[in-house]
Amino acid sequence: MCGIIGYVGKKRALPILLTGLSAMEYRGYDSAGVCVQASGLVRIRAAGKIEKLRERLPPAPLAGTAGIAHTRWATHGVPDEANAHPHMDCHEQVAIVHNGIIENYSELREGLKAKGHTFTSQTDSEVLAHLIESECEEASGLAAIRRALKRVRGTYGIVVIFKDIPQTLFAARMGSPLVIGVGAHEHYVASDPSAILAHTRDVIFLDDGELAAVSSEGVTLAGLDEQPVNKQVERVTWEVETAQKNGNPHFMLKEILEQSAVVENSTRGRIDLIGTRAVLGGLRDVSERLEEIDRIIIIGCGSAYYAGLVGEYLLEELTGIPVEVELGSEFRYRKPIISARTAVLAISQSGETADTLEAVREAKRKHALTLGLVNVVGSTVARETDAGVYNHAGPEIGVASTKAFLSQLSVLALMGVYLGALRGVLPEREAGAVLAALYEIPDQIQMILEGRARISQIVKRHAAMGNCLFLGRKYQAPIAYEGALKLKEVSYVHAEGYSCGEMKHGPIALIDTSFPSVVLCPLDSVFEKTRSNMEEIRARGGKIIAITTDHDAVSSLCEEVIIVPKTLECLQPLLTVIPTQILAYEMAVARGFDPDRPRNLAKSVTVE
Ligand code: M6R
Repeated sequence: MCGIIGYVGKKRALPILLTGLSAMEYRGYDSAGVCVQASGLVRIRAAGKIEKLRERLPPAPLAGTAGIAHTRWATHGVPDEANAHPHMDCHEQVAIVHNGIIENYSELREGLKAKGHTFTSQTDSEVLAHLIESECEEASGLAAIRRALKRVRGTYGIVVIFKDIPQTLFAARMGSPLVIGVGAHEHYVASDPSAILAHTRDVIFLDDGELAAVSSEGVTLAGLDEQPVNKQVERVTWEVETAQKNGNPHFMLKEILEQSAVVENSTRGRIDLIGTRAVLGGLRDVSERLEEIDRIIIIGCGSAYYAGLVGEYLLEELTGIPVEVELGSEFRYRKPIISARTAVLAISQSGETADTLEAVREAKRKHALTLGLVNVVGSTVARETDAGVYNHAGPEIGVASTKAFLSQLSVLALMGVYLGALRGVLPEREAGAVLAALYEIPDQIQMILEGRARISQIVKRHAAMGNCLFLGRKYQAPIAYEGALKLKEVSYVHAEGYSCGEMKHGPIALIDTSFPSVVLCPLDSVFEKTRSNMEEIRARGGKIIAITTDHDAVSSLCEEVIIVPKTLECLQPLLTVIPTQILAYEMAVARGFDPDRPRNLAKSVTVE
């Protein structure tokens, strides 16, 4: 995700800001920028790596001792210089850096345009600079920022600098982390402690709804509700690398643990205020063609393909449109039959997977409507498809896909509701039920994550396994495939994912007392059938780890039971997949492997 750093003190700000940006490089970014208080606000921005930004710096060193900087990971608008932060108002009075998403930015932007503001970027963030500047007619500094933020819906971690308020940074947080670093006659503000640990370990963590005015000599805290805020300075004992992983030993674990927020981010601003419609701006321009399509083909590789399989069930159930799912690597070799009424939806975290990309190109050659469900903004799949929806999962650093997979499922659910309504086949009441259940998912994910220690104990009891079968039926079959993929890629345990119904056609021959099975068996419409399969495993002495919504319904058949909360059948995969990710992670660690560096694998497979 984007990175923020601000400095105010007695030293030159620019070198400190650039070092801070470099410390946040691990988060992934597509552009960067700085703004220093010198004679006026001096801003320098560049698309690409921080090296590109350094190349843009003026030959004479900038003398300013207060400034802000940002690395951007695009969510709204392509990754170019105009969209890079800091953003400024038209009179260059205010500069801001922003992490998060402003949901009502288009209505705010229209209102400001009507008052004469001109915008130079496609971002939601720029609106904040204009809004704060316009509030300066009535108030100044912290008070102007507070007035502006009261008009904003969404999430933010911002740092603001004013041309006419020297040596002061202003910060505010709502849903996007910010930390203030306390030094001797100097202060820092950052989104990520790793950006400031080289300078200080004394910090104040801002909480949601808090604002701060930060000068070289002190920090004044206040609430958005105008109440005073008092906080203690804390000492951070983490090393930089641990800080980058948010205190976790591995990125894979960090990404598993942040999935509750990931689902919130993927759905944020995409559900209308009444809660019965999905709002997917990225599909608006092709809505007329979407009304006409008679078939959807989903393309993906690896985990993205398995997300597509969940999407197949979801989209058919909610839209009534026939859906097929194809591996990117197979699609173009078999002369696929495609017409202009076919929509081809490419799912890809990176947006750069060669097989998926070539499948998109093949679909385009055959005049299909091409859509992308992509995490990396401005990636090749995003650019080459006719329209699409971004995951908003933030950069995924772990090679094993976890949070991207979950965000893909969230967006597929939204797409189902969107298309079902567009084609008039999904009654508002049913759409509302899906969206209401989706709204509950982040809290339910949190409940599962709180039980991680139990899953870790289960793994310790089974760490010597050499093989494992993952089984599921209907919506749970793709989760069985995904669970097996995750286990094999990080722990090197040989694992097979099978749909329960297929077990009797072959894999059952493998079952004996040393060949355990993970069975995904929530109490859904196919539970009784899945339970029969568990009986069959049991009859052959096979051990079972069950992932279910009801302990008593399966406990007599299993060695281990992992409980997940119950939700609608079509959303249950968003919950059952989490224990499979934890199983894989804990198994890798228990067997002494580094899950962030699985052998032979690359994060993005850009060769066919
Ligand atoms: O970037 P993509 O989503 O297109 O990547 C697709 C696969 O390479 C990816 O999901 C891979 O299978 C992961 N390592 C799975 O954890």
